[in-house]
Amino acid sequence: MSKKVGIILGATRGIGRALAAQLAEIWGNDGIVYATARREADAEELAETLGRSGLQCRTLLFDLSSPSDPERIAQEIGNRHGGVDVVVQNGAYMPRAGVPALDDARPMIAANSHGTLRVLRAFLPLLRGNGRIVVVASSLGVLNKLPDHLRTRFISAEADPDAVNRILDDYVELVEAGTAKAAGWPDWVNIPSKIGQVAVTRAFALQAKADGKLPAGALINIANPGVTLTDATRDFMGTVFRREDAQTPEQAAKSLLWLATLPDGTAYPYAQLVEHQRIIPFRDHGLSNSH
Ligand SMILES: NC(=O)c1ccc[n+]([C@@H]2O[C@H](COP(=O)([O-])OP(=O)(O)OC[C@H]3O[C@@H](n4cnc5c(N)ncnc54)[C@H](OP(=O)(O)O)[C@@H]3O)[C@@H](O)[C@H]2O)c1
Repeated sequence: MSKKVGIILGATRGIGRALAAQLAEIWGNDGIVYATARREADAEELAETLGRSGLQCRTLLFDLSSPSDPERIAQEIGNRHGGVDVVVQNGAYMPRAGVPALDDARPMIAANSHGTLRVLRAFLPLLRGNGRIVVVASSLGVLNKLPDHLRTRFISAEADPDAVNRILDDYVELVEAGTAKAAGWPDWVNIPSKIGQVAVTRAFALQAKADGKLPAGALINIANPGVTLTDATRDFMGTVFRREDAQTPEQAAKSLLWLATLPDGTAYPYAQLVEHQRIIPFRDHGLSNSH
């Protein structure tokens, strides 16, 4: 039997690094795990450190902000192995404490919404039967964070990932025009960014299934790891998050590992946002009556 092949995108630190280590550990000699970094030195350090713990991990360079990187690394995996069993899109352009949306909205949406869609499009043709794709997003990425008129737009784009990204592009334009708040968007850029990631992944998953492009038994889902103490959240502890609620990256990675390695034949969840094995409703409880 050929070895399983998995790739964790954005694995130098935090949850992604812990997940790459856990996947390498459970697969052992039965699988090959790739972990990506943006910098060569980080890739070398990652492979060396995991190697010292007896874990085999190969590395590739990858930047979610690069329009060509998803296709390049998918081709690399395809040339080497002919297919892939597990793809976890974990890396993201992270919000920075104290930095206004004006500075971050454009690069964040470009990476997290458009970059995620490029990753999905590049890897779906390689996905083997019973393959698993997981996009790591957040419970912030749900429609009850938005007023009804914006929720309605996302719902009408539900199975069209390009239409989802057009909504996010409109958001960026509004931020840059200084009118996003008046148009109903939340102040914190991380919320539209995570709604975009969840919505674009759901739409891609629904479209892939409807178009018959999904390999037999394959699943595409979105994960919320839950609050975790990492470099990304350290500066938000005590304000946005409570430090006492925070997991370690290893604890958070365990539920992502569960989602990324659901046994063959599992049909559900599909196109869902999942936190610790439970579905978080994306559309919430329907629209409110207030307009
Ligand atoms: N921590 C939490 O409480 C929490 C909660 C909900 C959701 N999440 C989500 O979980 C994921 C991992 O977060 P984390 O807390 O583990 O963050 P982290 O420790 O800061 O790690 C982020 C990882 O993403 C990589 N990355 C950043 N920008 C990238 C880009 N443009 N292209 C490719 N990789 C990139 C980083 O690589 P470099 O080393 O090159 O920067 C790093 O490996 C994120 O999607 C985050 O939004 C986290």
